[in-house]
Amino acid sequence: MYRSSRLSPRFGLTGVMLVLALVLASPAGAQNVAREKAVDRLNAFASEMLKNRPHFIGYPVNQDTELEGFYTWYLKSGLYEAAMNNVGDPFKTSSSLLNSHSFEKEVIDYFAPRFGFHKDYWGFVTASGTDGNNHGVYFGKKVLQAKSNLPPIAYVSEEAHYSIKKLADVQGIELRLIKADPMGRMDLADFEAKLDPTRPALVVIAMGTTFKGGIDNQMGIDAILKKVAPPAVHRHLDAALFGSILGFLPPPASDLVNSAKMGFDSIAISGHKFWGLDEPAGIFIATKHVRDNINPFQVAYLKDAVPTITCSRSAISPLKLWWKITFSEPNVFEKQAARLIANAEYLHAELQKLGIKSWLNEYSNTVFFQRPGQAVMDYYGLAPDVHPEQGELAHVLVMQHVSKDLLDAFIADMKKDFGK
Ligand SMILES: Cc1ncc(COP(=O)(O)O)c(C=O)c1O
Repeated sequence: MYRSSRLSPRFGLTGVMLVLALVLASPAGAQNVAREKAVDRLNAFASEMLKNRPHFIGYPVNQDTELEGFYTWYLKSGLYEAAMNNVGDPFKTSSSLLNSHSFEKEVIDYFAPRFGFHKDYWGFVTASGTDGNNHGVYFGKKVLQAKSNLPPIAYVSEEAHYSIKKLADVQGIELRLIKADPMGRMDLADFEAKLDPTRPALVVIAMGTTFKGGIDNQMGIDAILKKVAPPAVHRHLDAALFGSILGFLPPPASDLVNSAKMGFDSIAISGHKFWGLDEPAGIFIATKHVRDNINPFQVAYLKDAVPTITCSRSAISPLKLWWKITFSEPNVFEKQAARLIANAEYLHAELQKLGIKSWLNEYSNTVFFQRPGQAVMDYYGLAPDVHPEQGELAHVLVMQHVSKDLLDAFIADMKKDFGK
């Protein structure tokens, strides 16, 4: 643990008292004591976070960050002395000297084919899943405006992430909430009933809803869009967590996040979920058609057009993602994705064996079940939800750090809690 300074043990008690008195008497000494206290506080904070980390299983965050190599390089290279900024378009030669655009573009180039964008695509590293959704909604609106003068309507299921509701509100787009079935998937009959044939449609499709891991039926949504035929359509995929899992599973799972096969126009995934970044980040990828239809707002002093809503952007998170995809073992992400699904199936089966009500969607790492007592909820950091038929619920997100042993400990705690 880091210490800012140490007292020598050779001082006697009087010596120590004397030094202490002198130290406290001088302004510099008082400052040192304050610094020492601040460092102690930080150390205590770090211990607390690290103590909670291993059994934090209620949120979609991979706690195996594996960034030690990155930070060692970062310190050794001295790059921490530079304040970089990725403002602008990573797909253009930038006028700024201090950015990591070239690495950012390579990150997008790595992910684009995974999501079925083989050429004519564009993207950037976002600040979060919500930031990616913000761009999906905004760019969708711009593309629809380029095709029709009529105001668009955004459609999203009630189980989709709450960011979509907020973003439609911020961007002044009329929102129609579509019912979801008990497994968290968009109710297609309700979508058809609410789809307006006279106004452009901005459909936000959930690839893994936050609480239940529901995957909206894209083929079903498409069939309804064709049947009802609104004047223009834009499909944005919110694949914050599941994009990374599905994209690294074999077909037919990977087909669900394949733009060439499914026909969606843009996709957002998070960088701090499956990818284990230790700070919020994400990836946004769209067809070049989307990129060409937005207002890029030429900025004279940047000698560039800035297509993103966010201006200043992190130059570090693209480097962390680049580090992960460059230095990780071959096929490690495919193996991780398969393990998450297998472990989720194990947890679901064990809870059912105990007679505890549990549910799991296909291709999902999100097991949701009858809510246990508050002590179990608190220890594992579980999130609550409630459903009119399923009752009070909680869920576990089986991420990379959630081992079989940890699941066994959790199952034993559930067994005890439910008196089984
Ligand atoms: C489906 C879904 N979309 C979007 C988000 C928002 O992502 P972020 O927290 O990275 O902004 C989440 C977060 O849990 C999510 O589950």
